[in-house]
Amino acid sequence: MHAYDLVVVGSANADLVVRVDRRPGAGETVLGSDLVTHAGGKGANQAVAAARLGATTGLLARVGEDAHGRLLADSLGEAGVDTRGLLVGGAPTGVALITVDPSGNNSIVVSPGANARLTPEDVDRAGPLLAAARVVSLQLEIPLVTVAAAVATAARGGTRVVLNASPPVPLPAEVLAVCDPLVVNEHEAAFLLRVAGDPAGEESPASPERWAEALLAAGPRSVVVTLGADGAVLADETGVARVAGLRVEAVDTTGAGDAFTAALAWRLGLGENLTEAARFAVRVGAAAVTRPGAQESYPTFDEVAAR
Ligand code: RIB
Repeated sequence: MHAYDLVVVGSANADLVVRVDRRPGAGETVLGSDLVTHAGGKGANQAVAAARLGATTGLLARVGEDAHGRLLADSLGEAGVDTRGLLVGGAPTGVALITVDPSGNNSIVVSPGANARLTPEDVDRAGPLLAAARVVSLQLEIPLVTVAAAVATAARGGTRVVLNASPPVPLPAEVLAVCDPLVVNEHEAAFLLRVAGDPAGEESPASPERWAEALLAAGPRSVVVTLGADGAVLADETGVARVAGLRVEAVDTTGAGDAFTAALAWRLGLGENLTEAARFAVRVGAAAVTRPGAQESYPTFDEVAAR
């Protein structure tokens, strides 16, 4: 019936990574490690993470006709992602400039490049790909009009939509209304609540449970607030619940949220409820932080099961 467990619509970036002892302040220069280039981008990351876990996965994305684009095509192909929806040309491949500090935390600046040229027309042309998915998963490194078009296409076909609102922008009501779930980290939750004028976005100390409840009231069918090592808070019509985190030695957190969301989307598509899917996703995200890079760090299903 469904040719794909998961179809991801999103970005593909070359991640240019430098490890630093500390990040420079304004006007300051610091020296870092040798530069390492990894395959990344929130969309491609999700697709690779799901495929490596065993999901039949497709990706609609756009890269440039350049070496970075080929790096991404190779990484997706090696993981087993169906790349017939990987469009080429229009601008250079997106690039993410990433610094990673000694605690494994990252800071990222993205130059969208070809990601910004993924259009609603591309989504129209990919109608059969989206129609063949159990779940369509999106993020916000591509134009919002393109996200809205993909969400509308999926919703018309009765396909479940998972949206990771990263990096966050104000979301139209019709997009929010079909998210099941809307996935956000703490920064993204506070941002979306602030733009909605909800006082929960300003509260200090912040309560992720309050955030999840307030975000659910803004329209999505369900909400997941990710908390890194502290797990996640879930909200849907059955109430608000917390899923515990896993303590691991973090080497590099880059892309761990993408692995979490991909695993969550896959398991929801298989029929698990939000709590079951989030428990599995927490284990996948935890495994991903124990290795450097984004796509290279993602575990197989057997590695997750062995934890
Ligand atoms: O979520 C991590 C990803 O964000 C990186 O791979 C980088 O490309 C940016 O898109």
